[in-house]
Amino acid sequence: MRIILLGAPGSGKGTQATLLRDRMNLVHISTGDLLRAARAAGTPLGLKAKEVMDRGELVSDDIVLSMLEERLHQPDAQDGVIFDGYPRNFAQADALTCMLAKMAMPLKAAILLDVSHAVLLSRLAERAKKEGRADDTPEVIANRLKIYHDQTEPVVGYYQQRGLLSKIAGEGSMEDIYAQIAAVLKN
Ligand code: AP5
Repeated sequence: MRIILLGAPGSGKGTQATLLRDRMNLVHISTGDLLRAARAAGTPLGLKAKEVMDRGELVSDDIVLSMLEERLHQPDAQDGVIFDGYPRNFAQADALTCMLAKMAMPLKAAILLDVSHAVLLSRLAERAKKEGRADDTPEVIANRLKIYHDQTEPVVGYYQQRGLLSKIAGEGSMEDIYAQIAAVLKN
């Protein structure tokens, strides 16, 4: 089973992907985590991505796609995957459609976690206090939310047109949100 989790920064994609990984035995592929690991390892690609991520902008499609492709070809990713943070624009959505078709891996669903702007801001501010992620400053959060609105939100329509989209209310307890996702995947 292959699932995409869509949603704004702070909507809970990573949180729900972790629950799905643990409970449904799926592999969690987060392009944000792959990029942060490349940064931490100091690879040329990671260093190139660092400045872009610190501004809250999107890393180039080529870099992200090559990382994703490499991860998707690893043996553990053959049976089931949750895509978290990818795709973020139409070019990435098209690239994923092509890649999955080539690998004969049908997409089961694209799940949108719908969360209000106020709740997103409060969750990210709370995380900033606890974890100090470099891109959780007020200015960078504002830029990430703008880029989500301008470039990623339109991708929702891409999956809606293909009959793959389910919209979930992403506010409330993590368990309630998980239960809604599980119900979508059962159908
Ligand atoms: P990425 O790591 O993907 O970050 P993001 O999309 O901004 O998402 P977040 O991690 O902030 O939020 P989330 O939706 O995962 O929510 P979470 O579960 O963490 O990307 C970072 C950067 O990498 C990008 O800006 C870009 O530069 C680059 N990048 C990544 N992918 C790329 C791509 N495909 N192309 C180009 N560039 C790319 O939850 C947030 C907080 O809320 C947590 O503290 C959590 O505990 C809390 N929370 C979650 N659910 C609940 C709940 N139900 N109730 C209360 N609190 C909750």
